[in-house]
Amino acid sequence: MVSVKISALLLGAGALVSAAPAPTPTQAAQLKDRAASCTFSGANGAASASKSKASCATIVLSNVAVPSGTTLDLTGLNSGTTLIFEGTTSFGYKEWEGPLISVSGTKVTVKGASGHVIDGNGARWWDGKGSNSGKTKPKLFSAHSMKQSTISNLNIKNMPVQGFSINSATDLTLDHITIDNSAGDGTAKNTDAFDVGSSSGITISNANIKNQDDCLAINSGTNIHFVGGTCSGGHGLSIGSVGSRSDNTVDGVVIENSSISDSQNGVRVKTIYGATGKVTNVTYKDITLSNISKYGVVLEQDYENGSPTGTATNGVPITDLTLSGVKGSVASSATPVYILCGKGSCSDLKWGVAVTGGKKSTKCTNVPSGASC
Ligand SMILES: *[C@@H]1O[C@H](CO)[C@@H](O)[C@H](O)[C@H]1NC(C)=O
Ligand SMILES: *[C@@H]1O[C@H](CO)[C@@H](O)[C@H](O)[C@H]1NC(C)=O
Ligand SMILES: *[C@@H]1O[C@H](CO)[C@@H](O)[C@H](O)[C@H]1NC(C)=O
Repeated sequence: MVSVKISALLLGAGALVSAAPAPTPTQAAQLKDRAASCTFSGANGAASASKSKASCATIVLSNVAVPSGTTLDLTGLNSGTTLIFEGTTSFGYKEWEGPLISVSGTKVTVKGASGHVIDGNGARWWDGKGSNSGKTKPKLFSAHSMKQSTISNLNIKNMPVQGFSINSATDLTLDHITIDNSAGDGTAKNTDAFDVGSSSGITISNANIKNQDDCLAINSGTNIHFVGGTCSGGHGLSIGSVGSRSDNTVDGVVIENSSISDSQNGVRVKTIYGATGKVTNVTYKDITLSNISKYGVVLEQDYENGSPTGTATNGVPITDLTLSGVKGSVASSATPVYILCGKGSCSDLKWGVAVTGGKKSTKCTNVPSGASC
């Protein structure tokens, strides 16, 4: 069923002025030849939206069925464009890397209409192997080069593998993003909710995430704020692994007022063995843990190829790290705190950690002053 509907064609600037606060002259000129609102749906919806994206001030994606092996491509949107997901957004099946959705632009607003769902139907790909082997799985949402933009109220379920890739973005807010991947417990892997790299001025607020990997993973970037998040089923709120990329600096992160339950880790900072870079000025504040199966708080400087080696190096120092009001409990078989630092490479820690349960680690190494392990 193909239905492409352009609901309001080529409204003059006058009509726009009466419908909205008076635009500045440049905005008026820009919007003059754009339809106020265009609605796209069905199997041709993605291609049509992509083709018409420059000529619509508001793009409504209503029950769009994105064909297999193609991206719902809304990159290069005009400044000020609003993009609305409505009904069910679905995707055909193919083994490929994705992304299923890609959006870029300046002053772009992306939001979900009430009752909508972006359904990755990940079960078609889930084979217990994640992104490392088995079927090639498409990432869900590329938010690259988005500037002064907002993504809010999206309801996502069953991602095949990683969710939001936030890269080269500045002043981007993601508010009230819900991801429910719980149907993939046991078979889905590497379903990170938010991967952040080379970005600055990022706010992720009120996220509600059920997944099987990091709720947040910051590989590089500055001025990043995660607040009011609820994370369960995954690997916790993570910085890293930092190192071995083109950008290896994490500077200025606040992660606060969030809970992590039924997850492998709570608070995690990991850096790469033998690499260089830095992690500095990071604060975790008011974080509540429950039923953590591996580590409540973990700092480790020994990662290689995605796994810990057990031997730390000091090329990616962790400095000025504040843990304040990190509390709650871990499962009985877990370790409340694990610290594996290189020689002299974890310093200026402020330690407000009160995590109970589990067994103390006997392997902590180069524990910085103030911390207890
Ligand atoms: C903390 O999070 C809770 C629940 O997500 C929310 O109701 C509250 O407003 C948040 N407070 C602050 C200071 O962010
Ligand atoms: C630390 O990071 C915060 C949050 O990004 C920022 O406001 C503050 O200026 C930074 N402090 C230093 C000393 O760079
Ligand atoms: C604890 O979390 C694990 C997942 O890490 C989950 O399988 C288990 O059911 C949870 N236990 C309780 C008591 O909620």
